[in-house]
Amino acid sequence: MNEKIHALRFSATNSYLIECENGKLLFDTGWAGTFPALCASFGKLKIPVQSISCILISHFHPDHMGAAQELADAGPVILVPDVQLPYIHASDAVFAKEGNRDFVPVDDEKIRTFPIDEGRKVLKEYGIDGRILHTPGHSDDSISLWLDEGSLFVGDLNPLYELEAHRGTQIADTWDRLLELGPKTVYYGHAAKTVIEPVTDASEKNGQSDGNDASEGCCASEGNGKPEHNEELCRLVTQVMRCTDKGFDIKKICRKTGAEPEFIEDVMRMYLTHRGIGVQGILDRIEIKNR
Ligand SMILES: [Fe+2]
Repeated sequence: MNEKIHALRFSATNSYLIECENGKLLFDTGWAGTFPALCASFGKLKIPVQSISCILISHFHPDHMGAAQELADAGPVILVPDVQLPYIHASDAVFAKEGNRDFVPVDDEKIRTFPIDEGRKVLKEYGIDGRILHTPGHSDDSISLWLDEGSLFVGDLNPLYELEAHRGTQIADTWDRLLELGPKTVYYGHAAKTVIEPVTDASEKNGQSDGNDASEGCCASEGNGKPEHNEELCRLVTQVMRCTDKGFDIKKICRKTGAEPEFIEDVMRMYLTHRGIGVQGILDRIEIKNR
């Protein structure tokens, strides 16, 4: 068990490269058009794209699978557990609608599919000790990657700090199952990782974000470059949502809106991980996060 985890940020989505002796697994890609940035990001690690063994997609929303086939054409195979099979083309219409010429649909003939319960066996071929778990909540095709050493990759499953707000829903049921595994670190598609401290007494904490968390992106605080008036804030959130729909990355949204990167990151994550959420819902959740 010697997996090495690289967190990559070449698009608006966090991707994770899990490196081990027998191979390299990439968990999630970015929007279609991010392939050059993906290659540059691997270049910084001195890892040739061709050396990637396989790709696992947390769920087939456009910001997680957009560059998958383009990357797969360079060598790695896309692993598709059976529970995801009906969804692999779910984003094709999104890219068609925006006229995205960079998008390459998943080639059904080249994927590797398997019953999700056989995930451990498949991962082992690449030297990874872990499991692939069906974790619906954000979407029906959501899966999570579990490494036996305690790392958990959940894609867009709502972050742990929101867990209590989702009690009684599929999201909380999924989290309850995941927490039984005893994760040490949780890696998200759009948030900073959560390091879970061992429970030492009855006052159990579900998790504590690490120092890299974008918690300073609180929209309500003063002196941090964020607007203080709600109307202005709402307008800014709307702008960020529109830019996100266009697949812009944080840097570009910064240039267009003048907002702080941490704030944009928060809005994007809330927007991308909560289906049908509105401006006020995003602001409410940012407030919950920063309590
Ligand atoms: Fe999503």
